[in-house]
Amino acid sequence: MKIFIDTAKIDEIETAFSWGIVDGVTTNPSLIKIAVEELKNKGEKIDIESYIKRILEFTGPYPVSLEVIGTDYESMYKEAKILYEKFNKIANNVVIKIPVNPSCEEKDDFDGLKTIYKLSKEGIPVNVTLIMKVEQAILAAKAGARYVSPFAGRIDDYLRNKIGWRDFKKDAYFPENGIKLNQEIVNDEGIVSGVDLVKKIVDVFNKYNFKTEIIAASIRNSRQVKEIALTGCHIATIPFYVIKEMIVHYKTAEGMRKFISDVVPEYKEIFK
Ligand code: E4P
Repeated sequence: MKIFIDTAKIDEIETAFSWGIVDGVTTNPSLIKIAVEELKNKGEKIDIESYIKRILEFTGPYPVSLEVIGTDYESMYKEAKILYEKFNKIANNVVIKIPVNPSCEEKDDFDGLKTIYKLSKEGIPVNVTLIMKVEQAILAAKAGARYVSPFAGRIDDYLRNKIGWRDFKKDAYFPENGIKLNQEIVNDEGIVSGVDLVKKIVDVFNKYNFKTEIIAASIRNSRQVKEIALTGCHIATIPFYVIKEMIVHYKTAEGMRKFISDVVPEYKEIFK
């Protein structure tokens, strides 16, 4: 499984790359806002365009997803072309993020697919974002997407909200086999968790040998990463705090303390 880092913070990107574990980066307008505001608050003079260039220069040749902001075919296509023309020449690693359905008002529901199809035909790689159901992933793959990004954590949020469970932490674990209410597993058209959504997309894509890669996104904790990996998903895009959680275990730390306390002076001598 490839690991992408889900952040626009350059220090997090550089640190994770120094660990040798990263195969790409995903950003979105919210992540860029957080990263740039943090630097501005520290007194750094930075504009978003040069900041994105910094990320691409550092990350190349690994792919970096950059998202459009439009909500209709014309604007998304235009913005995608601008992003690609402006930034891909830097390190040839730009992937354009397009929402599977940009319509918030149940009109122009197919503008996302139309944009994905057009860009893909032109050879521009597209990462289709905000995938919340298997059917959307199928359509995005058929339209030529290089990647589809099912949002595991947000499906878990949605399932919790369905039963009025609002008091939970963003990084709280949600069981992959779902939660029961009155003998019934809470579900969204048969999907019982974010991991379940990813698993079903993996099953369908494997069944039909789709070439589109699946990026499990909206990952909230380390246990979820393990469950995503077990689905056979190609890629997980993981926030920095979750990557940090993946390396820690109580017994590893305890074992280290014991090894350190057992080092005899003669053993130390070897390293002098
Ligand atoms: C990634 O590309 C998504 O934008 C991101 O994973 C969303 O994560 P969130 O649901 O935790 O905001």
